[in-house]
Amino acid sequence: PGLRVQVMAEVDSTNTELMRRARASDVTPTLLVAEAQTAGRGRMGRPWKSASAHGHAALAFSLGLPLAPRDWSGLSLAVGLALAEALHPQLTIKWPNDLWWDGRKLSGILIETAASPALADDTRQVVIGIGINLDAPDAEGLSTRPAWVREFLPGLDAPGLLARVAPGLLQTVQQFEREGFAPLRDRYAGRDALAGREVALSDGLRGRAVGVSDLGALLVHTEMGTREVTSSEVSVRPV
Ligand code: BTN
Repeated sequence: PGLRVQVMAEVDSTNTELMRRARASDVTPTLLVAEAQTAGRGRMGRPWKSASAHGHAALAFSLGLPLAPRDWSGLSLAVGLALAEALHPQLTIKWPNDLWWDGRKLSGILIETAASPALADDTRQVVIGIGINLDAPDAEGLSTRPAWVREFLPGLDAPGLLARVAPGLLQTVQQFEREGFAPLRDRYAGRDALAGREVALSDGLRGRAVGVSDLGALLVHTEMGTREVTSSEVSVRPV
C-alpha cells in the first residue's frame, strides 16, 4: 500500500489534522509534515512549541494509518527505538516515549487513535506525532534544558532529518503491527534510560525501574513487589 507524503506550510497540529481527516473518512496512510504548527500538542494536554522567532527549530510531523486491533501500549516504545537507531548510538529512550541525549530531551512522541466511519468497528486510525528538536530551541518557559539534533549531526536540515528517520519508522511500525513489541524488547533494553534507576510514579509510589515487559509496560521493583506500569496510568520521573 502506498504512503501519501504531504508538507503543509502551516497547520494547527499535524496530529489534530490527521485525526480530523480520519473522522471525515480519510484514512489513507499519510505522513504529514508541518513547517509551522500554531497549536502543537504534547502529552498530558501540554502545548508543544516547534518554531521559534528565528526560524524552524524543530521537525514536526505525524504518521497516520489504520492499524488492526491489538495492544498499542508498546507502540510509542517501538517508535522511539526506530528514531533513536536512525539518529545516534548514544540516544536513550525515557519510557514511554521521550528521546534523551546527554540526559536532556531531544524528541517527544504523541500517539492518538480515532475511530473512523471508513474503518471496521475495531480498527482504529492511529496517529503517531513526532517532534524532534533540530536546532537550539527557544528554551523560554521550559523547566528543563532540551537537547537538539545539530549537537551531534551538525549539517542536518529538516528534510534531511526526515529522510533519515522515516524509513526505519515505517519499517518498525509495520513490524509492530505484525508482531507487537516483544521482538523489539532486547533492542529497547540497550537504550533504556531508566533501567536501574530510582523512579517516582505520579501516583506517589517509588521504586527501581528494571526494564520493560513484552507489552512495553515499565517494570518497577517497589517495597510491595514488582509493578507493571502502563503509560496511560502514571507518569514517571527519575529521582
Ligand atoms: C511530548 O513530548 O509531550 C510529545 C510532543 C509531540 C509533538 C509532535 S509535533 C508533531 C505532532 N503534532 C502535534 O501537535 N504534536 C506532535
